[in-house]
Amino acid sequence: MLHIENVYRQFENGFVALESVSLQVKPGEIVSLVGTSGCGKSTLLRIIAGLDRPTLGSVAINHETITAPHPKIGLIFQEPRLMPWLNVRDNIQFGLNAVSLNSRAITEATLAKVGLTEFAHCLPRQLSGGMAQRAAIARALVTQPEILLLDEPFSALDALTRTTLQDHLLDIWEDDRPTMILVTHDIEEALVLSDRVIVLRGNPGRIQRAFTLDLPRPRRRTDASLQRWKERLLGELDASQPDQSGTNQRSWPRSVPDTVS
Ligand SMILES: Nc1ncnc2c1ncn2[C@@H]1O[C@H](COP(=O)(O)OP(=O)(O)O)[C@@H](O)[C@H]1O
Ligand SMILES: [Mg+2]
Repeated sequence: MLHIENVYRQFENGFVALESVSLQVKPGEIVSLVGTSGCGKSTLLRIIAGLDRPTLGSVAINHETITAPHPKIGLIFQEPRLMPWLNVRDNIQFGLNAVSLNSRAITEATLAKVGLTEFAHCLPRQLSGGMAQRAAIARALVTQPEILLLDEPFSALDALTRTTLQDHLLDIWEDDRPTMILVTHDIEEALVLSDRVIVLRGNPGRIQRAFTLDLPRPRRRTDASLQRWKERLLGELDASQPDQSGTNQRSWPRSVPDTVS
């Protein structure tokens, strides 16, 4: 169980990025964070990952307070962040500390899980964007994390690759059911993947609203119920625009109805 309690984050320059953020995430739950650009999504994810500390409040997994990167937490970013001089297998293996017979077996199993066995010898520059991101997912999975944090993991990919990887991520999730917290700009992505969608409002960042999606899986992107949710969430995001009186004014393009930036 992940407990986020009253997290407040003020940066050294005085800017308040998060205020009174509390959230509990159950084991195996998939939660999406959506909201305007700059509303504090990445800051919150970094705090959960132990890469940043809240000014006030706390984050705990199973009652253990997170103060530094934790072996039970895996991170996936928008760019794959692979080491260019290591092949796919060694990049994945790198996620494990010790090289043993067992770690080799885990690496091979993880390669197979993301469908990269045949490309294990390739260097990152020889991979397509989707394959590189699958390698990054494998590197995060190899330690068998309880919690996977994903910060806009598919937003640099083309639409087709993105939907393929979303489906693939769900297949992977089915195996070990890690808790997943996903930051996304893509409402459809949030709706296809999540049990809950949390709408953040910026300036300072706080939770505006949480929606529990009572939609069975697998979900079809064309389903009428999904489309209704999409409209509802877009309405909520419109309402989540920070006050114009605030210090950091943001907006997203209204001309692009299914993305939020
Ligand atoms: N180290 C920092 N110092 C000051 N301000 C920061 C720092 N990191 C992020 N910010 C600001 O905090 C706000 C939230 O950033 P971020 O969490 O990256 O937003 P998001 O991921 O939702 O787009 C932004 O306005 C950003 O400019
Ligand atoms: Mg961000």
